[in-house]
Amino acid sequence: MATRRILTGFRPTGPAHLGHWVGALKQWVPLQDEGYDCHFLVADVQALTTHADNPGLIEWAVRELTLDWIAVGLDPTRPNVHFVLQSGVPELYELSELLAMIASVNEILRNPTIKSEVTQITGVQLSPDEEIGAEELRAAGGKITVGFFRYPVSQVADIELFAPQPPKEGDELLVPVGADQVPHLEYTNVLARRFNRMYGRVFLPCTPKVGEVGRLVGTDGNAKMSKSLDNAIYLGDDAKVVEAKVRGMFTDKTKIRKDDPGHPDTCPVSIYHNAFGDGEAAKRIHEECAGGRRGCVACKKELAAALNGFLDPIRARRKEAERMPIAKYLREGTERAREVGAVTMRAVREAMHLDYKTIFG
Ligand code: TRP
Repeated sequence: MATRRILTGFRPTGPAHLGHWVGALKQWVPLQDEGYDCHFLVADVQALTTHADNPGLIEWAVRELTLDWIAVGLDPTRPNVHFVLQSGVPELYELSELLAMIASVNEILRNPTIKSEVTQITGVQLSPDEEIGAEELRAAGGKITVGFFRYPVSQVADIELFAPQPPKEGDELLVPVGADQVPHLEYTNVLARRFNRMYGRVFLPCTPKVGEVGRLVGTDGNAKMSKSLDNAIYLGDDAKVVEAKVRGMFTDKTKIRKDDPGHPDTCPVSIYHNAFGDGEAAKRIHEECAGGRRGCVACKKELAAALNGFLDPIRARRKEAERMPIAKYLREGTERAREVGAVTMRAVREAMHLDYKTIFG
């Protein structure tokens, strides 16, 4: 029988927000019912690549994230659903180190996700065909660690540790992610194929899966909702906080009076109505806004109500999650990842001649 596995994850650097829901969680939840063995990775080691100075934050966020995941409907009580704590799987460090030997520095310098993260750190913009260079490294002033720099390689390890051994016809390694992660998955397949060419077939190229809406704009209209931009609505925000954040949202700058026609396709409020309201209402709102028959104040009120309607069941489930044995889920999922990982690492060591058959027999 074919092996069908899912591996995906988040960095625990803060609680989950609506952007995580739209970009990733929304598609993870139904995949639990589609015959996959699902591994959801809490990437705490990857969080250290940018937050090594704040391990207490990561510790807190691991718990928050686990509760958020259960709150949105991931269900670690199912036999096919595993929550994996990255730092608890030494096989991941091991594979990451070995893969680093066949990864070139130039590939990292070109990686679009790394480039945009370096831009966030340094403020220096890079065009699509430019590589990270001396200027950016200088501007980073020591803030780019070696660990950060090689995290694309460790992300390849996160994924390929779950390659079925040996990979067979029909096996699948599905990685459902938000759009910003796609370059990492492309790189995963570059390295997986390179390894297989050099040492024999151990790895299975992964299948990326991006939801219909890969990313959600922030409340300020920035292309991406994120904690560092302070433009996020969190799954754990209470009703009052959501109302206040929605009231402060940016709308269409050209719509000054209530009866000016708006541009709902680019207005964050309208985009959220589409993502979280019911379809009929979103359509009506779109038409009224474009026709100058709707003011932003009313529109925001309706949005806050729609968001709170969406979040209410998540809040209720989160309360339940707080009484569930999350330590047990993390322990069991991590143990299970180690078992899978041990099998992969045996194949990797053998392929790279690290089992020293000629010496040890
Ligand atoms: N890079 C992802 C994030 O920033 C987290 C992550 C780590 C991940 N390893 C992964 C995602 C493997 C998908 C597959 O949240």
